[in-house]
Amino acid sequence: MAERFFVIKGDIVRVKTQAIVNAANTSLLGGGGVDGAIHRAAGKELLLECETLGGCPTGEAKITSGYKLRAEYVIHTPGPIWRGGNKGEAELLANCYRNSLKLAQEYDITSISFPSISTGVYRYPVEQAADIAVKEIMTFLENNNDIEKVQMVCFDEITFRTYEKALKNYKK
Ligand code: APR
Repeated sequence: MAERFFVIKGDIVRVKTQAIVNAANTSLLGGGGVDGAIHRAAGKELLLECETLGGCPTGEAKITSGYKLRAEYVIHTPGPIWRGGNKGEAELLANCYRNSLKLAQEYDITSISFPSISTGVYRYPVEQAADIAVKEIMTFLENNNDIEKVQMVCFDEITFRTYEKALKNYKK
């Protein structure tokens, strides 16, 4: 399968893909981390549109315009808060990736960038999160040809190396 999934280090508000995914919270009314960065870069119109969405349950995804961002769309998905691993966190995190990719497909989006969902404020262990993210993204790409490029945009070195390792292990 031609390479369509790339792990890169960078700032998701600067990448050039049609859609970027926001690691949101269930209110969809902004926050810190990547959520804060995306809202700051998109401008206040993003919040105005988010206010019309009525929130979003954990693991589901909703789409808005990108406004001042380079990306045309923002797909907002609240990841699970880590509570020790026995509260269905893995399935909820997998759903974040699955539902974001499904929504992208419905909107004929051909390139999408993800942050490392839930591994910041929500404290999800990054090794476990990376394995889940890589598995969901690669499985989606193995079964769908319409999305041409998926990027995992890692903000720091440790996250970057962890996702690179997860991708290498998946390919074996
Ligand atoms: N680009 C890419 N990744 C980023 C950026 C950025 N500009 N800023 C932060 N990150 C990374 C973090 O370093 C972490 O690896 O995104 C990952 C997810 O961290 P958080 O943004 O804290 O998201 P999460 O752990 O899912 O927690 C979500 O935090 O910001 C609030 O409103 C948000 O309540 C929600 C919670």
